[in-house]
Amino acid sequence: MKKLLLALFVIILSGTCLSAQNTERATFEIGKNTFLVNGEPIVIKAAELHYSRIPREYWEHRIMMSKALGMNTVCIYIFWNIHEQEEGKFDFSGQNDIAEFSRLVQKHDMFLIVRPGPYVCAEWEMGGLPWWLLKKKDIALRSLDPYFMERTRIFMNEVGKQLADLQITRGGNIIMVQVENEYGSYGIDKPYIAEIRDIVKDAGFNEVPLSQCDWSSNFERNALDDLLWTINFGTGANIDQQFKKLSEMRPDIPLMCSEFWSGWFDHWGKKHETRNSTAMVNGLREMLEKNISFSLYMAHGGTTFGHWGGANSPAYSAMCSSYDYDAPISESGKATPKFYELRELLSRHLDKGQKLIDIPDSIPTISIPQFSLNEVAPLFHNLPEANYTENIKSMEEFDQGWGSILYRTKLDASNEEQLLIVTDVHDWGQVYVDGKFIGKMDRRKGENSVILPPVRQDAVLDILVEAMGRVNFGVAIHDFKGITEKVELKTQKKNIELKGWEVYNFPVDYAFSSDKQFKKLSGKTDMPAYYRGTFNLTKTGDTFLNMTTWGKGLVWVNGYALGRFWEIGPQQTLYVPGCWLKEGENEIIILDIVSPEENKISGLRYPILDLLREDGIQTHRKEGENLDLSAEKPVLESTFAPGNGWQTIAFGQSVQTRYFCLEGLNSYGNDDMAAIAELEILDADGKRISRQNWKIVYADSEEIVKANNTADKVFDLQESTFWNSRYSRSVAKYPHQIVIDLGAEYSISGFQYLPRAEADAPGMIKDYRIYLKKESFKY
Ligand code: GLA
Ligand code: CA
Repeated sequence: MKKLLLALFVIILSGTCLSAQNTERATFEIGKNTFLVNGEPIVIKAAELHYSRIPREYWEHRIMMSKALGMNTVCIYIFWNIHEQEEGKFDFSGQNDIAEFSRLVQKHDMFLIVRPGPYVCAEWEMGGLPWWLLKKKDIALRSLDPYFMERTRIFMNEVGKQLADLQITRGGNIIMVQVENEYGSYGIDKPYIAEIRDIVKDAGFNEVPLSQCDWSSNFERNALDDLLWTINFGTGANIDQQFKKLSEMRPDIPLMCSEFWSGWFDHWGKKHETRNSTAMVNGLREMLEKNISFSLYMAHGGTTFGHWGGANSPAYSAMCSSYDYDAPISESGKATPKFYELRELLSRHLDKGQKLIDIPDSIPTISIPQFSLNEVAPLFHNLPEANYTENIKSMEEFDQGWGSILYRTKLDASNEEQLLIVTDVHDWGQVYVDGKFIGKMDRRKGENSVILPPVRQDAVLDILVEAMGRVNFGVAIHDFKGITEKVELKTQKKNIELKGWEVYNFPVDYAFSSDKQFKKLSGKTDMPAYYRGTFNLTKTGDTFLNMTTWGKGLVWVNGYALGRFWEIGPQQTLYVPGCWLKEGENEIIILDIVSPEENKISGLRYPILDLLREDGIQTHRKEGENLDLSAEKPVLESTFAPGNGWQTIAFGQSVQTRYFCLEGLNSYGNDDMAAIAELEILDADGKRISRQNWKIVYADSEEIVKANNTADKVFDLQESTFWNSRYSRSVAKYPHQIVIDLGAEYSISGFQYLPRAEADAPGMIKDYRIYLKKESFKY
């Protein structure tokens, strides 16, 4: 009996040991091949949530949903640019109250992992860095640049003031803090990482382990001896392969997948992304069985409200507002089929003392009957005060961070057409002469010119430029907005640079957007304009604004910035959290810079995230085009090694080339698909050449119906995305070809190839040929 009691006591004690609700000092440590809470082994099962992507009123709901999934930890990024929107002015209140968020997580007996950057990526504007850093034009972000480091230290100290006391050692629930984010995909700079580590420690995070996350292919590049190394990869990845090198280099550490991608993010103009739930659950099961800790990125993605979405590059590609991510908990906090599958798995892997709570009720959903907005304030009739500049300047130089900017100048008379060339449009331009719309320029497509008709003397040229998200990944994060360099007028005879600009700035805040001369709307306006309307509710609840008849812009409801809309999709609705609505009258303001097809709006009970309405932009093979290699001689004919991971192939000679063609002849699985995750091309010294100006000129087949597998995925810097020929045997068979224009001539000596990350996936190319050419191939 005594023995039994003692055993019970031990069980109860160790049960409480793993609790995140210790009000007294506890410990979290790295033991041999395991994490330890108060000396007890634990596997971290973390749910990544982003407080800024969830209305504060719903924080607790989403935390409880994560707990109901069976998780024991929450993992968050800290978004520097949302806390320090103006240099030196910090905001950690309300929606930004990270200490309160942490306490709520602890209230539900969960641990917290904090990833304070300074850079976070996360498909968030500039990867979380404040735009005003770019006011120092030559700043080298994410480097030892003195100004960057000075501001980083100030920011981190502020984070420390909020969170350092919430470390587990001081009675809080913070068990681990991450240093920087995936730096290996950006550069090699150990002194910089070491400095960030010290800044994090100096901010007070010196009582819990510090970690570093990267990819299996590059983690050792910046790995510091005193940090815990963790690896990021997605659903379907070959897990043993992902941890192979790490386990060899550090056989004693606990393994952790610091981001296991449950789904993926959406870009404007590209197919909505989903990932298979069985593959996700199988990956997590395998990790649990092997005692590998993980953070599920995202458990709940939520919404990138307002203008906070980022972009990827190359090629420039801005993010949608929905960050649903195909995660187990949907954008509006509902349990999806993935949720139930995962809960079932995690229910069989609970910690000692961990209880699986009931799934919290979901938040009620409402519909809003269709209505029109009855007031309008055209942008051109509501110009703010002008700035003057001789030479064109980017938005940052007018102290403007986000929104739209109008550049206006006068033209000399011309009785012939002239080509207007803008270098560069960041990110979407609309050109007008004497108030008449002439054409648009879309950075995503590399458009930078329009043809102007003959003009009178002193005709007014307007170039309205809308900034979409700043690039959040890779070296292109130095992303200035507006017009970045110059504007030229070109005819056969002359080429002049336009000077002497009036500049009007349109920021994105509600105060600015609502303070307009709104007039009763009669009929249609096809100019860029702010629209205002009201709708009445007898009951509030979550809803999805149906934007399908609107062009391109931003929406505010009751002063809350909901996000961006764009007719091209795939996102066609905007999530409105019910907590931002009220009974009685509600206000809506829409800025539409393209203008609506029809002025009507309604609230749906469900989101539309998968309706693309842009034709022809996605694939890289024109009607009737067939790559003709009959007269070409391959530089190399060879066989890829089987399995996952990078392969380096040398030609054994250097070849002068601009066009690179890889032709796959068959696959290891004897299927008809070809898939490539990434390609790098090596110069004469064996170094990777820049991919910034690469273009896909041809791909014989691309899957865009069942998934987002276009050929440009071979150089989108993401190892988990890939080009795939059409899945269906009847439409696409070997040989498969991809042709890349390198943007300039290079002397090249070989290439690097990364197949898909999944074990035994189809599309693993076996035999292949490489063709190189200075001039274009024949089609
Ligand atoms: C990386 C980054 C994350 C996020 C994901 C993709 O792993 O670390 O911030 O950008 O990719 O969603
Ligand atoms: Ca890729």
